[in-house]
Amino acid sequence: MRKKVTKAIFPVAGMGTRFLPATKSVPKEIMTLVDRPLVQYAIDEARAAGIKEFIFVTSRGKGALEDYFDHAPQLEQELRKKGKDALLETLKSTNMESGAIAYIRQHKALGLGHAVWCARRLIADEPFAVMLPDDVIAAEKPCLQQMVEAYQETGGCMVAAMEVPPERTSAYGILDVEEDMGSVVKVKSMVEKPKPEEAPSNLAVIGRYILTPSVLSNLNKIKSGAGGEIQLTDAIAQEIGKPKRGVYGLRFRGQRFDCGSKSGFLQATVSFGLAREDLRDDLSRYLHEVVAMDKASQ
Ligand code: UTP
Repeated sequence: MRKKVTKAIFPVAGMGTRFLPATKSVPKEIMTLVDRPLVQYAIDEARAAGIKEFIFVTSRGKGALEDYFDHAPQLEQELRKKGKDALLETLKSTNMESGAIAYIRQHKALGLGHAVWCARRLIADEPFAVMLPDDVIAAEKPCLQQMVEAYQETGGCMVAAMEVPPERTSAYGILDVEEDMGSVVKVKSMVEKPKPEEAPSNLAVIGRYILTPSVLSNLNKIKSGAGGEIQLTDAIAQEIGKPKRGVYGLRFRGQRFDCGSKSGFLQATVSFGLAREDLRDDLSRYLHEVVAMDKASQ
């Protein structure tokens, strides 16, 4: 029986420059899809996968994130007084059990690998998840849960993978596949942002990982040798070919939105809005009107 994955690291120390000026004072992860911040979607997905401990790697200016997961006694009291039970229930999903959430500072934005390394002391000899909240995934079975189930079969490291248009490979880490087993692939190598003509496939890594503690040791070694950004991909790639471990990709079922980009964020807003029963009719009518007006003006 493999050890359970009960801890997740959320690296949120980036500056979110693509959303300036908004991110000058609002952390990107607190930006809202319909009525929930990006980070709530990630937390819900983690909980569904059995995660019990949530480790945020933050930086200066992310205070709103800590407040979001805090209890708000005054607000709760007011809602209770007014009989707003549904809203009180909604607030419950933002509450964390004391001790279940930890915040670590990444003092310098030295890359995703470095952010994960900053949390090393909170991970013992156990597998752990890494989740990037700006990748929001709409799925019947939450993506991390799909990964945890696949990981129970494979062991080793597992990354979430999806097919991207061949001309887009230079925006992703791309997998070179040794063995294709359908939804799971065994990885031969990983190439960071290859040009389309140099890409070994169009299977891209997105922001969900299950990693073995050995990846942290690899980051330790890379850290002492590297000058610039410390890539998580490099530390995972060092696990390829290790007996009884290796690296696997899971073609998850679901739709991923890149909410780190403006266009992805807008698409997610529309899609999550249309998925909501209370908003669907109004939003859909409005979208049809806008498209019709756009066509008429062409
Ligand atoms: P991005 O590459 O999207 O960077 O990081 P960013 O700073 O968030 O956004 P832009 O590109 O400036 O608009 C991917 C994830 O890795 C985290 C980010 O917070 C984000 O969740 N990250 C990145 C860190 O925690 N530390 C780093 O040094 C770099």
